Amino acid sequence: MELIATAALQPGMEVAEDAVDYKGNLLVKKGTTLDKLTIQKLLISPIKCIQIKEAEDYVPTYFEKIKVSKTFQQFESVYHANFTAYKVALDSFILKKVPPNNNDLLQIVENIFTPFERSRITILDMLAVLKITDSDLLYAHGLNVALICKYTGKWFSLDDEELKTLILCGFYYDIGKHKLPREIIFKPGKLTSEELALMRTHPVHSYNLIQNLSIDINIKLAALMHHERCDGNGYPQKLSADRINRFAKIISIIDAYEAMTSYRAYRDPLCPFKVIEIFEKDGLERYDVAYYLTFLERMVEEYIGKEVMLNDGTECSIVLINKQDLSRPMVRAGNDYIDLSREKNRYIEKLI
Ligand SMILES: [Fe+2]
Repeated sequence: MELIATAALQPGMEVAEDAVDYKGNLLVKKGTTLDKLTIQKLLISPIKCIQIKEAEDYVPTYFEKIKVSKTFQQFESVYHANFTAYKVALDSFILKKVPPNNNDLLQIVENIFTPFERSRITILDMLAVLKITDSDLLYAHGLNVALICKYTGKWFSLDDEELKTLILCGFYYDIGKHKLPREIIFKPGKLTSEELALMRTHPVHSYNLIQNLSIDINIKLAALMHHERCDGNGYPQKLSADRINRFAKIISIIDAYEAMTSYRAYRDPLCPFKVIEIFEKDGLERYDVAYYLTFLERMVEEYIGKEVMLNDGTECSIVLINKQDLSRPMVRAGNDYIDLSREKNRYIEKLI
């Protein structure tokens, strides 16, 4: 909804909240569609503005509301304006070996991030509904991860220089995928063992592409090690936890998050609580425990106060995190509090 001056009201607008005067007298009820007479009445009343419904108030789900919001439309335009410069820099590097200017890459992130840093809709949620054409998906992947690094980097207590390093890790870590056939990278079904073996070469391709650039060594190691896992079952070297670079450990978590939440033409964005549930299922051994728990806890905190629908249709709001069961917070439906960690047959189906 949007606060509109009574002088700017137009017939056909719908009132989003009861409009009352200073004594509490109801002037126009929520849900009223304004006509000329009602507008005249409001113009001579003591109130100067009222809440009017916007396009986003007419659509049913959280992500659909984001798609039609003015904030997202502005974000989309800023993103695409900067995407072209980023794509040109990446193509020049991959095809002509022209080293990217890291300050330019960081500036692209700033250009997209800064205008929306304090917006009501987070960049994480806007990236989840941002439509990318198939031909740009691989390029967008690096930019989007760099943006997620910028947003979440502060959660890991990184200083300013380390945060810049993490953002650059986002740009470079998967760059080796550009060396592989697109049919394999975007194959919708299961990969054959030969295809999987080829796919698993991409961290080495990434490392080889960037090894001679004058960039922080952590960026190179994050590219090489981002598919290593703390349980020793990663690739390409099956490194144990103590040998995996710390930036690679953070990037591996953000990479998995981006894969689950990025835009897909064939499905709606996954509910963030479903994403957290998937992480919780088998993440504890695979990822660095401290980074992993920090990431999930902070991710859940992003949604405190949000309205959700449970699988039985109950509409409620999230009030409290359960640290032992992060995908199952405490929710409130009217005057009832529901602890989802104790009611295992109920779960959050979607944000509304
Ligand atoms: Fe990768």
